[in-house]
Amino acid sequence: MNIQHHISLKTLTTFGIEMYADDFIELTDIALLPELSDVAERKIIGGGSNILCTQSPKGLLIANRIKGIELLSEDVDTVLLKVASGEVWHDFVLYAIKRNYNGIENLALIPGTVGASPIQNIGAYGVEVKDTIESVTYWDWQTKKIITLTNAECHFGYRDSIFKNELKDRFFIISVQIRLSKKQKLNTSYGAIEEELKLMGITTPNSKDVAQAVINIRSCKLPNPKEIGNAGSFFKNPTISVQQFLELKKENPKIPSYPVSNKVVKVPAGWLIEQCGWKAYRKNDYGVHAKQALVLVNYGSASGTELWQLSVDIISSVQERFGIVLEREVQVW
Ligand code: EPU
Repeated sequence: MNIQHHISLKTLTTFGIEMYADDFIELTDIALLPELSDVAERKIIGGGSNILCTQSPKGLLIANRIKGIELLSEDVDTVLLKVASGEVWHDFVLYAIKRNYNGIENLALIPGTVGASPIQNIGAYGVEVKDTIESVTYWDWQTKKIITLTNAECHFGYRDSIFKNELKDRFFIISVQIRLSKKQKLNTSYGAIEEELKLMGITTPNSKDVAQAVINIRSCKLPNPKEIGNAGSFFKNPTISVQQFLELKKENPKIPSYPVSNKVVKVPAGWLIEQCGWKAYRKNDYGVHAKQALVLVNYGSASGTELWQLSVDIISSVQERFGIVLEREVQVW
């Protein structure tokens, strides 16, 4: 095994925080998984786009570099693809669009790897990856076996799955089996997409146009991690009871919301954070993005602890003002 030592995480995570891993391996072959099961502690990294490091990772840091996309089966309407976990998510979206395989165009430009996509059930613009996942294959570090879970067995929820709960720290995702449609099934109901398509002068869009609209919106609102360190949405959008929402609406008539059920609504955390005055906040090299308050940023030399403390302060001010406790979406190491 080619284990490297004292490896900087600055370019391995999109927050760009300087931190070192004592032991590090780039994994390109799943044949090494049985041997890696015997190390005392390990952490796995894909695109590093959903991680805030407040301390050096303990144990061996495994970077997932397993590649390959295979067509498993095909019928009149759909294709079933087996996508290796180390593939870059956006490259896979482009691969699908090029072949006219539809269903993930709204998820264009989401950073990270295919293997990370089911863990937090990535989603954007009215689509979640769970809508296309047939099954997920993982290596179980404890039993040292390869296991495949069906979509239902993954217990997908909003930015949630079995991998964040019952299976936490027990798995290494090997591949995700994704079913895409050969027919266009466009989902442009999310307001910003329709507006962007209009700006692009497109009246009868195809999947490629929708992907381009999403790319345009994301590039405009979200900071490019190559320029400003960040991990996308830092918090989840909280869900609250309709009753609590109606109370809040009395004092805040403009509060946006998305219905979840007839008892529960989701409120955009970005709005709550902005109302508390945090949007565009900056101290030293850490702060809150000027165009999207849900994104915390590192302008260069911020530490993980500074960003963590900023998130603590944001959580308390939102709780004080609205009585809502925000949950972090990023993984904190
Ligand atoms: N808003 C504000 N101020 C802000 C940001 C947002 O008032 O600073 C309000 C906007 O007015 C808008 C609402 O919040 O009405 C929603 O904003 P936006 O469309 O930007 O989406 P979001 O709810 O903040 C979620 C996802 C994003 C995803 C977008 C689009 C979560 C935690 N985040 O953000 O996902 O791209 O919707 O579907 O659910 C990610 O997870 O990393 C991510 C970027």
